[in-house]
Amino acid sequence: MVTDSNAFDIDTPALLIDLDRVEKNLATMQKKADTTGALLRPHIKAHKIPELARTQIRLGAVGVTASKVAEAEVMADAGIKDIFIANQVVTTTKLKRLAALSKRVKVSVGLDSAAGAKILSDVFSAAGKKIDYVIEIDSGLNRCGVPPGLPAVELFSAIKQLTGLRFKGIFTHAGQVYGKQTLEDVMAVSKLESEIIVETCNCFKDVGVRPEVVSVGSTPTMRVWNGCAGVNEIRPGNYIFLDAIQIALGVANPQECALTVLATVTSRPAHDRAVVDAGSKVFALDKGAHGKEMLKGFGLVLNKNAVLERLSEEHGVMSLDSKEKLEIGETVRIIPNHACPVINLSDKAYGIRRGKVEAELLIAGRGKVQ
Ligand SMILES: Cc1ncc(COP(=O)(O)O)c(C=O)c1O
Repeated sequence: MVTDSNAFDIDTPALLIDLDRVEKNLATMQKKADTTGALLRPHIKAHKIPELARTQIRLGAVGVTASKVAEAEVMADAGIKDIFIANQVVTTTKLKRLAALSKRVKVSVGLDSAAGAKILSDVFSAAGKKIDYVIEIDSGLNRCGVPPGLPAVELFSAIKQLTGLRFKGIFTHAGQVYGKQTLEDVMAVSKLESEIIVETCNCFKDVGVRPEVVSVGSTPTMRVWNGCAGVNEIRPGNYIFLDAIQIALGVANPQECALTVLATVTSRPAHDRAVVDAGSKVFALDKGAHGKEMLKGFGLVLNKNAVLERLSEEHGVMSLDSKEKLEIGETVRIIPNHACPVINLSDKAYGIRRGKVEAELLIAGRGKVQ
């Protein structure tokens, strides 16, 4: 059993961030980047907290990754100077905001089609500017991206005359790793992710071009990674907190998980059932990516023989071992299944250290979906 204190003088439900663990998780990944010769560009969708992004930069990150223009705007306001939007941006409204943002900070953006490139270039060339673009490669997630190898070079060649664009490199995210069942499988995806990006990078030799950025990353694939010649940037996000999904994948343990939900027991309708004041509006409904039933319930309840079995919007229903004592008014701490959507649902989190609240952290990027 994990022994984390839950004696905090704060109202519930509340998000607790263990600052010692965050600092350790950040330092560990930064060290991995430093020793493998890669730059770390953490994905801030995992925490959406300006203060934590600044900590990542202070520890050595080259910049941050964001998924939305609005997230990037929040990070620019927080003083982050180098932001990669690892996503396709195609609406004119967003692209105009992106052009405005590019006057304030260094921005780059993902791209995987000639059609998307044209829209992007038109807005930037009309503003008399160029945007750095990074071609997305599909390394098996089957989401966005061009297939590995020559298609990336073909896309580059097809759009190189567009005046609003500047080629920066290639990136991939092997998110299919979240559907894997064993650590061996996770390691195989990690290896594949790097091999695919390096192989694709090598294809650019045919056109005499060297991608400046060769970028990979997810938390599971980076936790088991030991570097790869040719990969020069990594983009994990969730590693800052880790969560029950990372534990289930075998790449983290509960003592490393830095984000917990503090909840109060509000009802004990039966000897084997307790209800807490945090439901799907706090935990989200994640039970592991791609529909895999890797997890027991909606989070890992600390120090109790209890399973968070059902969620309605404001209620979390736990089944209890019949010997478990849990009274109305008592608090419990729960490691969420997936930290990222949990962060997106609350306005603030409490930074805790050794049983005490040290800081209130504003989740300024929450809800920034445009
Ligand atoms: C393009 C991209 N890069 C990096 C990441 C970070 O991965 P993780 O959440 O596993 O840390 C994500 C996560 O969704 C992503 O979509």
